[in-house]
Amino acid sequence: MNVLFMTSECFPFAKTGGLADVSEAISVNLVKKGINVTLCLPYYKQVSHQNFRIAGKIEKLEIDPPLECLKTLELTNTAQKNIANQLKFFDILPYKYKGVNVLFFKNDFLFNRDALYGLDDKDYKDNLLRFALFCSASLTFVTDNKFKFDIIHCNDWQTSLVPAFAKFKFKLPSKILLTIHNLGYQGIFPKEQFSCASLNSLLFNIDGFEYYGNINLLKGGIEFSDAVNTVSRKYAEEIKTKEYGFGLDGVLENKKDKLFGILNGVDYDEWNPEIDKHIVKNYSIKNFKTGKKSCKKDLLTVFFGKQFDGALMDKPVISIVSRLEDQKGFPVFMDAIPEIIKRGGVIIVLGTGNKEIENGFKKMAETYPQNISVKIMYDNQISHKIEAGSDFFIMPSKYEPSGLNQMYSLKYGTIPIVHGTGGLDDTIINFDGTNINEADGFKFYGFSAEELLKSVNSALDIYFNDKNTFNKLIENAMEKDFLWSRSIEEYISLYNKIQ
Ligand code: ADP
Ligand code: GLC
Repeated sequence: MNVLFMTSECFPFAKTGGLADVSEAISVNLVKKGINVTLCLPYYKQVSHQNFRIAGKIEKLEIDPPLECLKTLELTNTAQKNIANQLKFFDILPYKYKGVNVLFFKNDFLFNRDALYGLDDKDYKDNLLRFALFCSASLTFVTDNKFKFDIIHCNDWQTSLVPAFAKFKFKLPSKILLTIHNLGYQGIFPKEQFSCASLNSLLFNIDGFEYYGNINLLKGGIEFSDAVNTVSRKYAEEIKTKEYGFGLDGVLENKKDKLFGILNGVDYDEWNPEIDKHIVKNYSIKNFKTGKKSCKKDLLTVFFGKQFDGALMDKPVISIVSRLEDQKGFPVFMDAIPEIIKRGGVIIVLGTGNKEIENGFKKMAETYPQNISVKIMYDNQISHKIEAGSDFFIMPSKYEPSGLNQMYSLKYGTIPIVHGTGGLDDTIINFDGTNINEADGFKFYGFSAEELLKSVNSALDIYFNDKNTFNKLIENAMEKDFLWSRSIEEYISLYNKIQ
């Protein structure tokens, strides 16, 4: 089987969030199952400067051998007449990564920028044009070269033009799967930009890309794909409701027969305390007590520096690694912080994103310098130290399609405290006082500071008063596996189903 995998992020080349981890994992694991995968990705500044750090401050991404331009593609098949020269040429740079045929599409005017999608809370204004041309260039290149794909697997709004391109413009026989990683981002643009999409304007209608007078790329992607999936079973159900549907619940309900939920997995070569290169002491389920202690000391030193006086070692460390966006539920968490501090909690935050949320956390850290430390940055190595050295990992997300960090946390014996939504609900088993043989975390359902606090309080009660139970929860957590091989089987049977 031949699969064309269309994505706007892929670890280790370019990443803002889980989409990058998942793009890498799906494509590499498909290859392990004998499937031939070609992955198309824009050649961003992140890739071109090779400054996406695989291993924090120590190693840089080495592309070896260096990328070479295979050919320069000239786009002719676009709707815009007189397309500017700076837009129509793409260098194609092929690279073999863990058996995956990666094709980078390089156009510096469009992609040689400081961020992937936008800066300072503002999306780049020409995002429709950028991703439309990326999709167009990818399909032009593969069809010019007569590559045949049984399946084209698209991801999120950035590649949601591909189903319509493939069917109506390139007339490809391939079947198309669209994976929705996050319904909160749909790629909505003013209708005047529809010519950028290089599609017949007839497709701008209620059964296509039109959405309350605007262009909605994800909607068109859903309409024209042969199947749609999202990244957990629960989220696949939630998005058909008004509460979680972001206005597309009706569209998704109509498509419910071709809508599936496939949970993400974890790359245990990357996220495993036994072999993790980023942490000061490796550990397993057999020696987690000493291992986690060394990692906690290291983590507290990284975050509290000189102020770290050893007294923090006995306190429960509750951590966050996240995009700091509204989705992640941090305002609710911030309301609960004073109470958590009163109970002796220590809070560690690593993240970037929305300025208001960043500033909110910075202020909290100024108010409680002994108990809260915040790093507003993106740092892969520190994120590993957090997974290993914390006692608890909190994800109070308003909604969470899958979530990866709660699954990483389990493997590191760091107990998740989560809002019971989407993938968080599917992956974490709440400890209710009676189920110590299976529980691995704490989960609350009402999305409020009060409910969150109840859950945190239960967690802290166990931490302070019942070390045996706490240690058993850690063991349960470390035993859990969310293997990609299982999810990949589900993707393959979905591919077979639509072929
Ligand atoms: P989302 O895709 O919504 O951001 P996920 O839980 O699926 O959420 O994935 C987030 C990924 O991004 C994880 O691999 C997480 O470790 C990583 N991440 C997010 N913010 C940071 C950061 N500031 N530093 C390092 N890694 C981060
Ligand atoms: C998203 C979701 C997250 C998911 C990730 C990868 O950005 O917010 O829950 O894990 O995509 O699928």
